[in-house]
Amino acid sequence: MNHGLEKKVAIGLALTVLLIILMGVYFITEPSRQQSAREEFVRKASVVGAEHFLVTCAQCHGAQGEGGIGPPLRETGLEENDLIKVISRGRPGTPMPAFAADEGGVFTYYQIRDIAEFIRHWDDDILEEVRHELVEHGMLNPTPAPPSAAGPDGLQLFTQLGCIACHTVEGVSTSSVGPELTDIASVAGERRPGTSTEDYIKESLLDPGAFVVEGFAPIMSSFDGRLTPEELQALVDYLLSLE
Ligand code: HEC
Ligand code: HEC
Repeated sequence: MNHGLEKKVAIGLALTVLLIILMGVYFITEPSRQQSAREEFVRKASVVGAEHFLVTCAQCHGAQGEGGIGPPLRETGLEENDLIKVISRGRPGTPMPAFAADEGGVFTYYQIRDIAEFIRHWDDDILEEVRHELVEHGMLNPTPAPPSAAGPDGLQLFTQLGCIACHTVEGVSTSSVGPELTDIASVAGERRPGTSTEDYIKESLLDPGAFVVEGFAPIMSSFDGRLTPEELQALVDYLLSLE
C-alpha cells in the first residue's frame, strides 16, 4: 500500500519534471520561431514587391534596377517613408507617375509598401526567381528591352512627346483626354475594317483626323514630319507591344 503510494508520487514527480523541461525547450526556441516567422513575412512582401517592380517599374528604372529613364533604384538612399511617398504621389512634371489608388494610380497602400520593402532590401536572387516565374506564366517578356538601347526607345518617346498628357497607359500615365492605350494593339485592328493593327496605329499618329474614336474630340495634332522614320517605328513598336 505504502509502496504503491511512493510509486505514484515518483511518477507524478517525473511527469512534472518532464513538463518543466518541455516548457523550457518551448521558451528557448520560441524567439527563433518568431524570428523566422518575421523573416518569412518580410520575404513574402519582397516577393510581391519584386513582382510589381518587374511588371510596372523596370521599364523605366531598368530590369535590374540599374536605371534608365528613371534613376537607379537598387541602391537608393531613400528611407521607407520617402519611398512610399514618391511611389504614391509620383514626381509631378517628370515621367514618374503617381501609383497610389487615391492619386489615380493602380496600387493600394499595402502593395506600395511591399514595393518599398523590396527596393530597400534589394535582393537579386528574389528578383531573378520572380522574373523566372513571371516569364514562365507569360506575364513578362523574357527579354526586356534595355532602357538605353541603340535605337530610339518607344516608351521614352511616348513620355517625351507628351502622349502621356492625353493618354492613359496602365503603369505609365493617367489622363483621359484621349482614349486609353493600355491595350491599343488589341483594339487597333478592329477600328477600321481593312486597316491592319500597325497601319491603324501609324495613321493615328500621322493623320489622327482620318478616324476619330467615338466619344472623343479630334484634338490630337499630327506627328507627321515631327519624327524621324526610326522614331516613328520605335513609337509604333511600343504601341504594338500594348495588348
Ligand atoms: C514612365 C517611367 C517611369 C515609371 C513607369 C516609373 N518611374 Fe519612378 N521615376 C521615373 C523618373 C523619370 C524619375 C525621376 C523623377 C525626377 O526627376 O525627380 C523617377 C523617380 C523615382 C523615384 C525617386 C528616386 C530618387 O532617387 O529620387 C522612385 C523611388 C521611383 N521612381 C520608384 C518607382 C517605382 C517603385 C515604380 C513602379 C511602381 C516607378 N518608379 C515607375 C520614371 C518612372
Ligand atoms: C492633346 C491630347 C493628345 C496628345 C498630346 C496625343 N493624343 Fe493621341 N489622341 C487624342 C485624342 C483626343 C484621341 C481620340 C480622337 C481621335 O481619334 O483623333 C487620340 C487618339 C489616339 C490613338 C487612337 C486610339 C484608339 O483607341 O483608336 C492613338 C494610337 C494615339 N492617339 C496615340 C498617341 C500618341 C502615340 C501620342 C504621342 C506621340 C499621342 N496620341 C498624343 C489626344 C491626344
